[in-house]
Amino acid sequence: MKIPKRIQPLVDEGLVDEVLRPLMSGKEAAVFVVRCGEHIRCAKVYKDADHRSFKQAVQYQEGRKVRSSRRARAMEKGSRYGRQQQENSWQNAEVSALYKLADAGVRVPEPYGCFDGVLLMELVTDADGDVAPRLNDVAMSAEQAIEDHAIMMRYIMRMLGVGLVHGDLSEFNVLVDSYGPVVIDLPQAVDAAANNNAGWMLERDVNNMTQYYGQYAPELLQTRFAKEIWALYQAGDFDPETELTGEFTDPTEAADVDSVLEEIKAAFAEMVERQERKQAADEPDER
Ligand SMILES: Nc1ncnc2c1ncn2[C@@H]1O[C@H](COP(=O)(O)OP(=O)(O)O)[C@@H](O)[C@H]1O
Ligand SMILES: [Mg+2]
Repeated sequence: MKIPKRIQPLVDEGLVDEVLRPLMSGKEAAVFVVRCGEHIRCAKVYKDADHRSFKQAVQYQEGRKVRSSRRARAMEKGSRYGRQQQENSWQNAEVSALYKLADAGVRVPEPYGCFDGVLLMELVTDADGDVAPRLNDVAMSAEQAIEDHAIMMRYIMRMLGVGLVHGDLSEFNVLVDSYGPVVIDLPQAVDAAANNNAGWMLERDVNNMTQYYGQYAPELLQTRFAKEIWALYQAGDFDPETELTGEFTDPTEAADVDSVLEEIKAAFAEMVERQERKQAADEPDER
């Protein structure tokens, strides 16, 4: 096909030899199947900031580190240079998350770098060599759902282990190949320690997965993995390989039991005191 304008610089640089076909064009990015030498890969072209939607929202940006302070100031001021830098940091966030996650043992497409706003990565395919379906298009047995759900919980733990929360994890951002689930679409990944939204985003990510797999294995719908994982993370000394139970007792529930016990104790003490006072009053004066 005709080479899209945004991919032309990569062709000029010899990074891409041929653009085979468009794969998907969403609100945030357009994805193409490309040939790099003898390899078939995938090129994700980010749309301009003006054409993009929610993932740019401030709640994702909080705590994101920017190296030079001049750049940080420009980003805050929202100048043209600032917008350009924000754009770059946005695009680099995905490729750097992909490298980090691959290292941490999370299945993601293998990244080959991000050039001029185009991410080159492995094309995830199924057993026939066709583009792998999204989880949303895959039906499965209860057994398979439980197994894949456990894998996703482990991947979420491993992401946290390297300080990241996906932030947009859903059945539309997971591909399924013959080995299992593969996590994609990470430009909005948030810094778990520095971003105050990380807790509820993690909860939403976990619950999206549990809801999806729960259609096939309804017992999953009773689990409380989100709270369990976040509590482990907050307790410090986090080990991403910790066995999970799916059970969780709300600390506020526990605190409530404690406070009821406290009240009973206080009421008992008051009663004893009252009786003692009454006894003292009833006893004849010793003088
Ligand atoms: N590495 C890949 N291999 C195969 N398909 C992919 C890959 N990356 C993206 N896709 C396809 O392109 C779609 C859009 O990519 P995604 O990264 O989710 O961007 P968007 O921000 O537009 O949702 C995905 O839903 C998936 O169908
Ligand atoms: Mg997506």
